[in-house]
Amino acid sequence: MKKPAITQVPIDGTISNRWSGRAYDAGKAVSRDQIIALLEAARWAPSCFGDQPWRFIVWDRATDAAAWQKAFDCLVPGNQAWVKDAPLLFLAAADSLFNHNGKENRWGQYDTGAAAENLCLQATAMGLMAHQMGGFDAEKTREVFGIPQQYSLMAMIAVGYPADIGTLNGEALERETAPRSRRPLGELFFNGTWGKPAA
Ligand SMILES: Cc1cc2nc3c(=O)[nH]c(=O)nc-3n(C[C@H](O)[C@H](O)[C@H](O)COP(=O)(O)O)c2cc1C
Repeated sequence: MKKPAITQVPIDGTISNRWSGRAYDAGKAVSRDQIIALLEAARWAPSCFGDQPWRFIVWDRATDAAAWQKAFDCLVPGNQAWVKDAPLLFLAAADSLFNHNGKENRWGQYDTGAAAENLCLQATAMGLMAHQMGGFDAEKTREVFGIPQQYSLMAMIAVGYPADIGTLNGEALERETAPRSRRPLGELFFNGTWGKPAA
């Protein structure tokens, strides 16, 4: 299923075609090279001081089903309902300290979001679908995978090939077919001063 963004003027197709779908094809494998491409896209995100504060864990069901299952078990039930068919899971975590001086890095989460979005856009460009999730038990995830306190657990990301919506039911199906929407440009973007709509 495709749900391209409706825009006032055309934008790059990779951006308009990225969307957070829920129907994944459990039978269509994502190759090792594709996984590396996703990681490279995240790696080449910009960051404050070039510090690269993001850390990702990859769980590939095809090569380590037990680890994938442990990650899946950390998701809230509402996400488990549709992540069941996704071959790949990622965790994006943000370093709270700068690498170069050990001081607080207040841009760590910002930079990690940029890396995660790079990964999602690369997925779209390769015909895959990526869906970020805040709905997981961060403390359980930290414990199960031994993640140091210094890193904030930001999001899990499901990745795989999209499938027919027939693989879904209930709320997941409803949300899959609902239209995508955004606030008007003028509510979000200001011209010259705070609150003056830019468009
Ligand atoms: C940080 C973050 C957390 C999210 N958490 C969830 C989640 O737990 N479950 C879910 O189904 N979608 C989740 N989403 C997906 C959003 O609902 C989705 O991005 C938003 O509705 C816009 O839809 P689009 O990505 O298709 O444009 C999350 C997205 C982000 C960026």
